[in-house]
Amino acid sequence: MSKVTLQPPRGTRDFFPEELRLRDWIFGHFRAVARQFGFEEIDAPVVEHEELFTRKAGEEIVDQLYHFELHGRRLALRPEITPSVARMVAARRGALKFPLRWFSLPQCWRYERMTRGRKREHYQWNMDIWGEPSVTAEAELIAAIFACFDRMGLAVDATRVRVNSRALLEETLCDSVLRGRPEAFTPLCVVIDKIDKIGADAVKDLLVEPQGAVRLDSAGADFVVDWLSLRDFDDAAKHAPNDSTAAAEVTRLFELLDAYGLSDRVIFDASIVRGLAYYTGIVFEGFDAGRSLRAICGGGRYNRLLETLGGPATPAVGFGFGDVVISELLADQGVLPDCGRELSAVVFPFGEAERAAAVRVARALRARDESVELVLGHPKLKRVLADADKSGARRLYLIGPDELARGEVLVRDLTSGEQTSEPIPD
Ligand code: HAM
Repeated sequence: MSKVTLQPPRGTRDFFPEELRLRDWIFGHFRAVARQFGFEEIDAPVVEHEELFTRKAGEEIVDQLYHFELHGRRLALRPEITPSVARMVAARRGALKFPLRWFSLPQCWRYERMTRGRKREHYQWNMDIWGEPSVTAEAELIAAIFACFDRMGLAVDATRVRVNSRALLEETLCDSVLRGRPEAFTPLCVVIDKIDKIGADAVKDLLVEPQGAVRLDSAGADFVVDWLSLRDFDDAAKHAPNDSTAAAEVTRLFELLDAYGLSDRVIFDASIVRGLAYYTGIVFEGFDAGRSLRAICGGGRYNRLLETLGGPATPAVGFGFGDVVISELLADQGVLPDCGRELSAVVFPFGEAERAAAVRVARALRARDESVELVLGHPKLKRVLADADKSGARRLYLIGPDELARGEVLVRDLTSGEQTSEPIPD
C-alpha cells in the first residue's frame, strides 16, 4: 500500500480533542450571545451551486472558490454563508415573519494565500437580521459582537469596532467624481478595500487603470484615497450632499450605541469599506485595539442581495466572526481558557471477575449523566491512578475481590484522597 501524507491539505485543520474543546468553548460563547439576543440557529449545505457565489465585481472571494464539476453540475464549497441565507430567505419569503433574526456557525472554504489569522478553512459565526431597514438592527449586531468579546474575557479596551457607511461614500462620489457613472461604485469599493494590503499608491493605480471598471482621473483617485483617511465623522459628512440620509443614519447609529454604553468602543473609520460587493449601507469591522491582527469580524448592510438572486427587495444586515483571529487574540492577551477534559469518574475492576459489578457501577453513574471512563483490559493500579489524575477525573471507583465479596465499591476522591464505600448497584 502506498503511504498517504499524514498532514491534512494546507490551510485546513485537524481538531484533536484539546483543539476541539477550545473550538467548543468558542462556539459556546457564539451560541450563548446569539440566544441572548433572541436569534435562531440555521444551517445550509457546505456544497452549493457555484453560481450562488460568482459575482462580477472582481472580489477576491470569487477567485478563491473551491469549485468542481460533478455529473454536469457546477458546484462549490461555500466561502461564506450569506448567499445561502439569502437563498433560504427567498425560498420561504411568504411564510417567514420579519424581522428575522438568524444565526449560524458554518465551516467556510477559501483558497487563500495563508498569513497569520488566514486559513483555507475556518468556522464563521454569522448573525443576520432580515426585513429591518433602520440602523436599530446594526446597533443590535454591534452590541452582540461586544457581548461576545466581553464574555470571552477580553478587556474592555482590547478591541474596537470601526464603522463606516458605503452609502455615505456612494452619495459623496456620485455627487462628484462618479457623477453619471453609479455602476462604477461597487467595483470601486472592491478596489479600495485593498488599501491596507497594497497601499494607497497601488490603489490609486487601480482606480485610474484605463481598462479597469472604475476609470477615475488622477484627481478623482486622490479625492477617494484622501476620503478614506478620514477618522472624524463630521469631516466625512461635510463632503456628502446636504440632505444626506446616509449621514443621518451614521449619526443615529452612534446615538443608539451610546444607549448600549458602547460609544467609547466604536470608532468612525472611512477606510472600512469591506471587500464584498453586496454591501449597500453601514459597514463595520472589529479589530484588536493595537491593530496587530487582521479583522476579527466584519459585516454590514446588504439591502440588494436578495434582488440579485431574483427575489424581492428585502433589507438585510449581518456580520461574520471567524474562529481563527479571535483565538490568536485570546492567546496574545493571555486569556485563552484552560479547556481541560471533563471526566467525572473512572471505574476500575481489578480482574474479569469484578467486571460485571464495575459495569453496573458505570451504568448507575452514567444514568445520573456523569461522564465515566470504564477501564478496559487489566492495567496496573498505579497506571490507572496516574491516567485518572491526568484526565482530570474527580473520583475513582475500585472493585477488587474483597469489595466484590462485600458487595461494595471503594470510592476515592482524587482531589482530597478521602476514601469511602458505596454499595454496588443491583
Ligand atoms: P468576511 O469579512 O469575508 O465577511 O469574513 C468575516 C470574518 O470571517 C472575518 O473578519 C474573519 O474573522 C473570518 N474569516 C474570513 N476569511 C477567513 C480565513 N480565510 N481564515 C480565517 N478567518 C477568516 C463575510 O464572509 C460576510 N459573509 C459576513 C456577513 C454576514 N456579512 C453579512 N452577513
